[in-house]
Amino acid sequence: RHFVTGAGQLKGKTVVITAGPTQERIDPVRYFTNHSSGKMGYAIAEAAYGQGARVVLISGPTHIDPPKGVEIINVVSAKEMFEAAMSYYEKADIVVKSAAVADYRPKDTFEQKRKKQPGKWSIEMERTTDILQTMGDQKVEQILVGFAAESEHVEEYAMKKLHSKNLDLIVANNILQEGAGFKGDTNIITTFTKDGEKKEYPVLAKKEAAQFIISDIISYMERHLR
Ligand code: CTP
Ligand code: CA
Repeated sequence: RHFVTGAGQLKGKTVVITAGPTQERIDPVRYFTNHSSGKMGYAIAEAAYGQGARVVLISGPTHIDPPKGVEIINVVSAKEMFEAAMSYYEKADIVVKSAAVADYRPKDTFEQKRKKQPGKWSIEMERTTDILQTMGDQKVEQILVGFAAESEHVEEYAMKKLHSKNLDLIVANNILQEGAGFKGDTNIITTFTKDGEKKEYPVLAKKEAAQFIISDIISYMERHLR
């Protein structure tokens, strides 16, 4: 396999990375979230910094320390992540959207802790804004990289997202596969580019997978920007 060797391949570039889950508030003590650990996004931030980029890491709540040298912007909700990500979009050369953004949030939130009551409780959910879709629709010359976390039809769904969100590269994984997914230290990824390159990787440490993702992004840029 081919690794981009040497450092400094992203010198002068600004890379914006989103990572981790979002939390969608119900009341002061309750929220909706998902199992994302943030490890994949943090590893990509570290790998991009290692190639000399200015790295802005926009992170939902995680339990890990940001890699040294990166600018960290902490957010909680999908709305906050949207606002932070869009505020850096114009300056970005590359955007990597590894965050597991909530697709829905509670339509109504409570200022006080909701007391339990007899019978059922239904929470009405409304859609959040798709950050990556918004970026794809407004793309000028940024390189846009998305993730596709799927449990079935991985290639088909990933290709659909690549095209409908106007992406340059998508990183797909099957979250039900042993050694892949949200929580662990390893991942099994396949990358697809807009110009038809497909790379399937074996089970790798997330830090190693991040190096290959950065390497695939650099190769794509070399084909397109020179
Ligand atoms: N994404 C985003 N904003 C959202 C939802 C998703 O930017 N509100 C981004 C994710 O960060 C990821 C990509 O879109 O890079 C794909 O996310 P995924 O959840 O796999 O796909 P969705 O488009 O949300 O579709 P679905 O969940 O129905 O598969
Ligand atoms: Ca989703």
